[in-house]
Formats: sequence, structure tokens, C-alpha cells
Amino acid sequence: MGEGGEASATRLVLQRAAGVAADIDAAFDRLLAVPEDGRDRLYQAMRHAAIGGGKRLRPLLVQAASDLFHISRDSALRVGLAVECIHVYSLIHDDLPAMDNDDMRRGKPTVHKAFDEATAVLAGDCLHDLAFQVLADEETHPDPFVRIELVKALAYASGPAGMAGGQMMDLEAERTRFDLPTVTRLQHMKTGALIAFCVDAAAIMARIPVDARTRLHGYARDIGLAFQIADDLLDVEGNPDLAGKALGKDAAAGKETFISLLGVDRAREQAHMLVDQAKTHLHGHGEEADLLRAIADYIVERDR
Ligand code: IPE
Ligand code: IPE
Ligand code: MG
Ligand code: MG
Ligand code: MG
Repeated sequence: MGEGGEASATRLVLQRAAGVAADIDAAFDRLLAVPEDGRDRLYQAMRHAAIGGGKRLRPLLVQAASDLFHISRDSALRVGLAVECIHVYSLIHDDLPAMDNDDMRRGKPTVHKAFDEATAVLAGDCLHDLAFQVLADEETHPDPFVRIELVKALAYASGPAGMAGGQMMDLEAERTRFDLPTVTRLQHMKTGALIAFCVDAAAIMARIPVDARTRLHGYARDIGLAFQIADDLLDVEGNPDLAGKALGKDAAAGKETFISLLGVDRAREQAHMLVDQAKTHLHGHGEEADLLRAIADYIVERDR
């Protein structure tokens, strides 16, 4: 895609993301209504982290993949809300002093700074649980077998074989020299698994047989890895005011990443190669996949 094409991909993504962000904010507002008892601090902490920030790329991906199969907007929104619950929980815990020890997230103080560490741990725990409560509700999908499959897939993507397992390896990457295949596996788990779930969830809701999901899953895997390489590139060359978080942290921690192993230029080439490869997986689709193509481009073009 040329310069103009990339700009129009970014425009399309930002335009659709703004609508999704408004829906997700409204859904969190309902989900996190503050009770008038001793839990108000917990709810306020969850609201602080979950409402009014972030690119909402994961819920947007659920919508974009759902467009392929004519899944209802409401179902896609609820699945997007569940993924965003897991994502926000992962960010709250990622920022804790025991992990990355960060003070700023999405342009605001992190939850343990604005509240305290115990509240941040509990707010993360509760968002994790709410994700599965949302998925298991019959409003998400009328078919209980679909709901069970969504729950299982999100649990897999979040747990030791996915995000949390990747986070453990990511901490190890500050102390151990990992090679490229190991860092690739780490990134697939830490970030790719949850991104892949967003796309897989649409196929699950559409009851597409597992062996017919391969190409879509290929797209999801490629953009998931490209997404984390882009995050690591922003950590080196991004603008903290746009990112809304401290940058330069990976090198300071001596963390093994695509950048430490390949350097900035080859890491960027790798991310672009993954995006091109992701789009080839969509060749069987027409313009109904244009948003997925635009998201792939946006992932490596983004400045935040
Ligand atoms: C940041 O994710 C953490 C990673 C998995 C790299 P995002 O870049 O999607 O963060 P928000 O949701 O836009 O704040
Ligand atoms: C965190 O990766 C990914 C998660 C699973 C939360 P990073 O630690 O690089 O994310 P940022 O840069 O703090 O957003
Ligand atoms: Mg981290
Ligand atoms: Mg971090
Ligand atoms: Mg980072």
C-alpha cells in the first residue's frame, strides 16, 4: 500500500474505533455502576482504568472479524467488552511495582498510583472475572455451546498458555538471554493470543468449523506479533505524550525483544512483513474484509 493508502487505512480505523470506543465506554459505565457500600473504591479503580482511554483495538477487531460473518453488533460488542476487561486487567497488573513499575497509563496515573497497590490487584482480579461473566451471559450469544467455546478460548488466551504465561517469560527476558524463536513465542503468548482471540471469537460465534478457520487464524497470529513489535518500536522511538505511558523502559530493563535482537530497522521490516503476510490470508475475502486489512496496516503505522 502506498502513502495515501496507509493514510486512508489509518483514517478508516480511527473512524470505526471512535464508534467502538464510545460503545465500550457506555458498556463499562453500565457494568461498573458504583455500589454504595465498602466496594466503591474498587469500582472507582476499575472505572479509572477501563473508561475513557486506550485505542480499543481489540473490540474493534472483534467487530471487524464479525463483519465477515454478519454477527450482530450487540454480540460483537459484548465479546469486545470481555476482551477489553482482560486487556485492562493485564495493564493494571503489568504496571504494578512488582512488574513494570509504571506511573502513567493512557495519559493518567496508573491504578496503584491513583489508588493503592491492594486496590490495583483487586481491580485487576475483578476485571478478569467480569470478562467471563460477560461471555457466559446469554445476551452474548443464544447458543450455550458457542458461549462455552468463547469462555474456553478466552481462558486459554489469557492464562498460562497465553497472556499470563507470556508475561512470566517477559519478566525472565530481563534476566535471561533468549534467542529469536523464544522471543517470538513469548510475544505470541503475551500479546498475540488475546489479539488472535478477537478474530477467532467471530468464527466461533458464526459456528465456522475449526478446520475452516485456519486462514483467519493465520491473519490473527501475524497481526498479533506485529502489534507487539510495533509496541517495542514505540518504546524506542515513540512520543510518551502520544503513547500516554513512559517509554524507553525495555532497554533500561535490559529486556530481550525483537529490537534488542534485530535492531530497529530489521524489527520494523519484520513487522511490515508480518502485516503483508496477514493480508495474504484474507485473499479469499472481498471488501467485507477491508477493515481487517486496514487494521493490519494501522498496527505498524500507529504513533501510539
Ligand atoms: C498495550 O496495549 C500493551 C500491549 C499488549 C503491548 P495497547 O497498545 O492496545 O494499549 P491501549 O489499550 O491502547 O491503551
Ligand atoms: C505488556 O507489554 C503486555 C501485557 C500483556 C499487558 P508491555 O509491558 O510492553 O506493555 P506496555 O508497554 O507497558 O503498554
Ligand atoms: Mg510488561
Ligand atoms: Mg509495561
Ligand atoms: Mg511496551
